[in-house]
Amino acid sequence: MRLEQLHIENLRNIATLDVALAPGINVFVGPNGAGKSSILEAAYLLSHAQSFRLGATQDLIRRGEKRLAAAATVCSAERARRIVLIRDDSGWNGRIDQTAATNLGAVLGETAVVCFEPGSHELIAGSGRERRRFLDWGVFHVEHAYLATAARYRRILRQRNMALKGGATDSELDAWDTELASAAAPMDLHRQQYFSRFCDRLTQLAGQFLPELGEFSIEWDRGWPIDANLRDLLALRRSHDRMRGHTSRGPHRADWTIRFEQAPQRGQLSRGQEKLCALACVLAQAQVHADASGQWPIIALDDLGSELDLEHQARVLGWLRRDAEQVLISGVEIPEPLRAEPDAITLFHVEHGGLRGLL
Ligand SMILES: Nc1ncnc2c1ncn2[C@@H]1O[C@H](COP(=O)(O)OP(=O)(O)O)[C@@H](O)[C@H]1O
Ligand SMILES: [Mg+2]
Repeated sequence: MRLEQLHIENLRNIATLDVALAPGINVFVGPNGAGKSSILEAAYLLSHAQSFRLGATQDLIRRGEKRLAAAATVCSAERARRIVLIRDDSGWNGRIDQTAATNLGAVLGETAVVCFEPGSHELIAGSGRERRRFLDWGVFHVEHAYLATAARYRRILRQRNMALKGGATDSELDAWDTELASAAAPMDLHRQQYFSRFCDRLTQLAGQFLPELGEFSIEWDRGWPIDANLRDLLALRRSHDRMRGHTSRGPHRADWTIRFEQAPQRGQLSRGQEKLCALACVLAQAQVHADASGQWPIIALDDLGSELDLEHQARVLGWLRRDAEQVLISGVEIPEPLRAEPDAITLFHVEHGGLRGLL
């Protein structure tokens, strides 16, 4: 899939901007603070309704404004659709081909954008929440029904936690345990199916991007022991959960761990290796999406030149040029491996929240 005619309104320092994105590699260059990452962010918002950067959603809206908008024509082999996403006081709202969507998931499901950026090492070094969010986005984009499955689980989890805090009776909690376990099962199944595809792709990519770390392995923790029945476990841990006022086991505690022969513990990876590992995860996710849907997601690489050494830049760009349909790259300059072939890229100069030549 690819984006055409990206339109941005009131996002960070961008007042209004139209970008004629091309198929293949689009490179955004310009000084620090020009608005390059914000352009990638606009594309990313269309498929996440959330930035890849830390910070409050409110910070995305240009100072002094009340509403931001991102829009693009999303083109796949079969069709082209105009997707509009708006954030204002009422939250996120979207349109598909002029029709207001009743369900945000339907809007986000139209566009798939994955991103590697300066904070991506958090996927390896950060908390399980990062990895769950990453995984859940991937599951949702290959299996849209997952959104409702996960929402049901979260709703019941919230209710069980409230019951725990509110001193509910054992028979009331029995009912919540049954509900929670029944909502957990399909959620876990979706995740496991996705995860096994993801592992296959990640194993190949880890071999390509981090061969120096030796054999790679990945372990899935579904959030409760593999040999335990969740309902029984919840009953067993009830007094513990009552004391803490929250549910200590279940899919909301799922996580996965990556190990290398030469770095058996996560803490033994250098920051650079964490980044490479995160990049392999992002590309594996893109590949799983392509395998499952027949469409490559759009791949955004924010500040590529400052994140990877030249050899790894060349490797990833070689891989993307062979396989990906559309890539958005930002940087203070054109990444070195792309300089030799200026005709192979579409270049945009970004300045003061606009494109040079259009200011
Ligand atoms: N809510 C906001 N309103 C106005 N300007 C903002 C807001 N948030 C960030 N900025 C500014 O937007 C600019 C663009 O940021 P960014 O896209 O990260 O630039 P680049 O990637 O080119 O370095 C920065 O100068 C930043 O200070
Ligand atoms: Mg930037």
